[in-house]
Amino acid sequence: MNDNGLALRNELPMSVAGDLESSAFEAEREAPCIPAYLEDTYWWAYLHPRSIWLFEREWLVNLILWGNMRRLTQSVLDEMDGAPGSPVLQVACVYGDFSNRLAACLRPSHSHLHIVDIAPIQLHNAGKKLEHHDTVSLHHQDSSALQFSAGRFSHTVVFFLLHEQPEEVRRRTVAEAIRVTRPGGKVVFVDYHCPKRSNPLRYLMRHVLRWLEPFALDLWRSELPDYLPKDIRPEQVSSRFYCGGLYQKVVVTC
Ligand SMILES: C[S@@+](CC[C@H](N)C(=O)[O-])C[C@H]1O[C@@H](n2cnc3c(N)ncnc32)[C@H](O)[C@@H]1O
Repeated sequence: MNDNGLALRNELPMSVAGDLESSAFEAEREAPCIPAYLEDTYWWAYLHPRSIWLFEREWLVNLILWGNMRRLTQSVLDEMDGAPGSPVLQVACVYGDFSNRLAACLRPSHSHLHIVDIAPIQLHNAGKKLEHHDTVSLHHQDSSALQFSAGRFSHTVVFFLLHEQPEEVRRRTVAEAIRVTRPGGKVVFVDYHCPKRSNPLRYLMRHVLRWLEPFALDLWRSELPDYLPKDIRPEQVSSRFYCGGLYQKVVVTC
């Protein structure tokens, strides 16, 4: 348990194995390294201490998402219909109120929120931000090689992570999110998508993403379900689009 009362697992300064559920603790063996794409491309957004000072503001995240943060967050909360007490996984930390809102949404049904991230600095920040929740655990893990057993979670959420990852890592993250979700559970992906030709943001965003987020335009060229592993047969795959197609929510029912 860290200073903030949150369970933080793996080789982080605040971790204490004592009050962790044994199954989850046993599953976490190796501390992952920061991958090259994060170090080279996104150091300014997630790894530099000033990045947290700058970006940890809901209004700024909302601005970056052209005023759609609340709507996209709500679109995830709308999918959280698991049975009482079902554990939910959030793959990667998110700046702003996203995790707070997700934890608050799960609380009445006594569902525990587990958050994974590969960057210790992000987990520490999440620990501070979520200190008033006693139903949240943090895990130092790589989204492309999760250390949880298959079917551990009722639902899994991947919010704006895939566009930041090179294709091979993205494919493994998608496969892992599905593997750790139980049959009948949902994996909810929210991310960028190719906007309609009539969307005035299309031209601006193409330049912005090409400049700052070199892997993001993959999600303009391919549909997100194209990254699902070929050998799985999900019960259902549904897509919904927001802001003239600039954003998508894809829900995979396992
Ligand atoms: C969810 S994404 C983007 C979220 C969104 N843009 C925001 O406002 O925060 C950012 C997070 O993904 C994490 N991340 C990137 N690659 C990862 C990986 N392979 N495994 C786990 N976390 C990863 C980063 O450390 C960062 O905290």
